[in-house]
Amino acid sequence: MASDPDPAAVRGVATTSHDGRFRDDPHAVYDALRADARACVPDPEYGRAIVTRYEVARALLRDKRFGVDARRAAEGSYVRRIAGTGVVEGRGDNAYEPPLVLLDDPGHRRIRTLVGRAFNARTVEEQRPRVARIVGELYDAVAGRSEIDYVREIAGPLPARVIAEMLGLADADPAGVKRWSEDILWGYDPERDAARQRRLREAYEAATATVRTTVAARRREPRDDLISAMVRARDEEDRLSDLEIVSLCIQLMVAGNVTTSDMIGNGVFHLLTRRDQWERLVARPDLVPGAVEELLRFDCPITETARIAYEPADVDGCPVVSGDVLTLSLSAANHDPDVFADPHELDVGRDADGHLAFGSGIHVCLGAPLARMEVQLAIGELARRHPGARVATERPPRRHLPFFRGLEALPLVLT
Ligand code: HEM
Repeated sequence: MASDPDPAAVRGVATTSHDGRFRDDPHAVYDALRADARACVPDPEYGRAIVTRYEVARALLRDKRFGVDARRAAEGSYVRRIAGTGVVEGRGDNAYEPPLVLLDDPGHRRIRTLVGRAFNARTVEEQRPRVARIVGELYDAVAGRSEIDYVREIAGPLPARVIAEMLGLADADPAGVKRWSEDILWGYDPERDAARQRRLREAYEAATATVRTTVAARRREPRDDLISAMVRARDEEDRLSDLEIVSLCIQLMVAGNVTTSDMIGNGVFHLLTRRDQWERLVARPDLVPGAVEELLRFDCPITETARIAYEPADVDGCPVVSGDVLTLSLSAANHDPDVFADPHELDVGRDADGHLAFGSGIHVCLGAPLARMEVQLAIGELARRHPGARVATERPPRRHLPFFRGLEALPLVLT
């Protein structure tokens, strides 16, 4: 997938899935950007500069001079159009609490500490039998069929069912949870139109109402679920308010659904279209956890994130001033040949440690242990039940949601 250096390609949507060239071959775009002498390549249309090199991106994710509060970004930068969900702050019952990922310290540290008590690696590991059961039920439902849409029937519903059960949204229909999360995620599209904005707001209001009712019920009578754990979570005198719990639940629904579905869909597509790699996994199930890390590196579902300069700085030779917005391409960093040899090759035996698919620093993905578990179980079970599975189309359709990379459908032939 080598490409001609063509930095002029960086214009607005050029590194988003709204751009057909990027959708088909993002690394043609990224390789060209990485070939530019500048570590930060300006994109005047989106009011930002793009970073593609691993070391620079990783250092920025951990640099305290850069933050995530879009209100501190220069006028005209695209982050001002994607900040939050477009839900206005302080609207009575639907008052808006910025998501963790858009909150700086000390507010971020406070909430992360409290939620970390409810959502740590041990709590998540305890969910393995539950997740395995849901995976088994989804595959059972397609047993005996020769053709399925893997995204619609397995990869799509799995994370929605897992998070709805974990949170304890017993009365919420998982299909509804999935729809809300997708509609809310469009808040990250700087090009979204009025109809999208309306769907976003309706989804946010419906999700808020459902979660709020459950939070109130768990305050009265706790159960063995994540909402009850959040209600209980305390750090000395500090605790989460109802509004914070509602906001966190919506974040977990939004951040954990489309990303994980995309990861499973992308991963299965890449494995089944590289038969030698698939056969290795079928023969050696113990390779699955490492293969999932390699798939995260190879085609990460969140392609990029942004950081805002809070003071003047020099970024690998590029001067930045307060308010400048840097887009850090996690996808490009994961294909930096200075860090990963033959980066455009998928090798399920590779040590992909250090990839940036889950970010790095204080905002590193809170749900990474859960996402890893879901992807490992979904791919491992496909290899066990359907070793002869094949992709039924050469070019499965890709979604057009910027910064998130996933398939809309993945027709498979099961044998
Ligand atoms: C393969 C699936 C996933 C990928 C690739 C992914 C990726 C990421 C990335 C890159 C970030 C950091 C963004 C930044 O620094 O700007 C992040 C943050 C976050 N993720 Fe994930 N994620 C996944 C699944 C999940 C799941 C399953 C959950 C929860 C159920 C989740 C919850 C969160 C939360 C709450 C944050 C914000 C953390 C903070 O700001 O402290 N994610 N994720």
